[in-house]
Amino acid sequence: MSDQTGHDSPVAPAAPAMPAAPAVPAVPAQPAERQGLGALTQELGLLYGGDYNPEQWPRQTWVEDMALMQAAGVNLVTVGVFSWAQLEPSPGERCFDWLDEVLDLAHAHGIAVDLATPTASPPPWMGHRFPETLPVDADGVRLAYGSRNQFSPSSQVYRTFARQITADLVARYASHPAVRMWHVGNEYGQVCHSEESAAAFRDWLRERYTSLDGLNAAWGTTFWSQRYDAWEEIIPPRRAPYLINPTQLLDFARFTSDALRSLFREQRDIIRAVDPVRPVTTNFMGFFPLVDYWSWAGDLDVIADDAYPDPQDHAAAPTAALTQDLMRSLGGGAPWMLMEQAVSAVNWRSHNVPKAPARMRLESLQAVAHGADAICFFQWRASRAGAERFHSAMLPHAGADTAVHRGVVRLGTDLRALADVVGQRSSAQVALLFDWSSWWAAEAQARPTDRLSVLAQLRAWHRPLWDRGVAVDLARPGDDLSGYDLVLAPNLYLLDDDDAGNLREYVRSGGALALGPFSAVVTPDGHLRPGRFPVQLADVLGTSGEEWIPLADGAPLARGRDGTWLAEDSQVRDFAERLRLEGGYALATFAAGAPHDLAGAPAVVGHGYGSGQTWYVGALLPDAATDALLTQVLRERGVRTALGTPVPATPLGVEMVRRGAVTFLLNHSDSPVTVALGDATSTDLLTQRDHSGTVVVPALDALALTERSP
Ligand code: GLA
Repeated sequence: MSDQTGHDSPVAPAAPAMPAAPAVPAVPAQPAERQGLGALTQELGLLYGGDYNPEQWPRQTWVEDMALMQAAGVNLVTVGVFSWAQLEPSPGERCFDWLDEVLDLAHAHGIAVDLATPTASPPPWMGHRFPETLPVDADGVRLAYGSRNQFSPSSQVYRTFARQITADLVARYASHPAVRMWHVGNEYGQVCHSEESAAAFRDWLRERYTSLDGLNAAWGTTFWSQRYDAWEEIIPPRRAPYLINPTQLLDFARFTSDALRSLFREQRDIIRAVDPVRPVTTNFMGFFPLVDYWSWAGDLDVIADDAYPDPQDHAAAPTAALTQDLMRSLGGGAPWMLMEQAVSAVNWRSHNVPKAPARMRLESLQAVAHGADAICFFQWRASRAGAERFHSAMLPHAGADTAVHRGVVRLGTDLRALADVVGQRSSAQVALLFDWSSWWAAEAQARPTDRLSVLAQLRAWHRPLWDRGVAVDLARPGDDLSGYDLVLAPNLYLLDDDDAGNLREYVRSGGALALGPFSAVVTPDGHLRPGRFPVQLADVLGTSGEEWIPLADGAPLARGRDGTWLAEDSQVRDFAERLRLEGGYALATFAAGAPHDLAGAPAVVGHGYGSGQTWYVGALLPDAATDALLTQVLRERGVRTALGTPVPATPLGVEMVRRGAVTFLLNHSDSPVTVALGDATSTDLLTQRDHSGTVVVPALDALALTERSP
């Protein structure tokens, strides 16, 4: 062992060929409601810190780190994410002494620890001695160690070692006073096509379909002679000569998400069995394609997210807001953690433009505005060796006397000034629907166009709300939507009958639904629904369609009834649908000159159903038209901004978000923006200055306004 780890008294290695499998313990009776972040934030305020990897440094550096953390206002560090090889240098050996010291030191400095199970990166001995633990890609290539994430979610050997180290870690530290929460693994997203994974996939399929006949029917295996005669014939979607069965792909996506989830739960349950109180989490990755976070959300005590917006991306701020709204919504509105972000540059893009300290501060405050009670980074101290040497850190290679670190210290001060928002929630009149299965299904191979991107549509429909200070929750089509004045569904390609029934009932009883193109196309098995689309909802929407039409050169639009929102020369871009009215009215139609005989056909249809209202958008509208249509819809539904004012016709120029009693004004642009506040006097928590009437939000700056009591 290197003395950098501080390890000096290894326990004699037992070095078994393979460890005895500790069972996953029964979880003791759970407290009625498990702790979220509340216990920690009530004591410490907003949490502030990052990943801390002391095993990369000698002991004297740890002492310096603690002092600098204290000076910066850091009150939480995530320790041990990648420390498996230091904790278990050879199979069965345990080296906890160095971690004892780190935790004692953190506690002595008043810094709470989010202690990680080190299971994201198995040591080389595992891959070397047990190659079956390594993942296999779709080409049948077994991936090597020497990196990280080199495990197969279905490997029983990996799982057994992971359970053992987790059990020992928890047994040793569950009562350590520094440990205030638990962090399982890191960024789950591994995919494996090995034989062992194939067997696990078959078990999952048996559970889902019971019989081979059921599977053959669901996968539509009469097509291309794909009928399976025995379970053993079924394999993951490995590299094949041509297009792969779409239901096989969809089920493999579902299986992979479930396999990773069971991995998380296995370790979580080991922790909960010993420590039933402190929160357990793992870090999500926004709209990550390989894991259905809705299905996982209830498994975590606190939702946590890793976010690495590109400083070069002009749409980074609205995209981040959308992701943060998802994180808050996954936790049912409870405070969540920004578990990782970069202080400045990352090192994994091809060109890593640094993030200015002002932008880093603004992005952090944005997360707080959207419900985060923890602002953390990857990582505290920049690594000198290894693959992330050029990744920024809270303490850069050049030390504390740097612009980057001064930005870190300043943010610590800002977060302390925001004590009023701790634990606060927000409310939204609008829900935006998003469903992972539908996303997976919609983006399968061999569809009418790959220019219809689910996430791009989601962003396009979210943007008008973001521009106007309108709060929004993310939800699934099957959720209880009755509390919302408006539900926006940019794309629901896969819509099951229960969810369609839920939407119908929501509208019938007075709700308002706007649905985007290429929706209600397939069943949960990915089979096309026969009939005029959107099949289950055509009568609700007052329109039905018969053909999806990818466009070569766009198609002109004309105003229909109540169509003044549409600019005169609007053109549909890549995708149109051939619709006809079924009781609804056309807000926009295709104009003369539209290809495919579309001229005169409806493109956007409004309708009343029951006591509710609907809009169906049968085309990929240009962003300006989406903006204008949704603004009109928001106004019709009486939706208000964060200031309680009617939705303005044009964008505000700043992001406006209300959390509890605090209104955040966030200026992501390079110029100052003036905002009208109304007559009441508000105090900016960040500067303690009072404002009334109008306020100027400087470029790349934010205000956190709370109304002054008279
Ligand atoms: C992810 C990981 C971290 C680190 C960062 C780098 O978020 O969880 O360990 O690799 O990326 O940006």
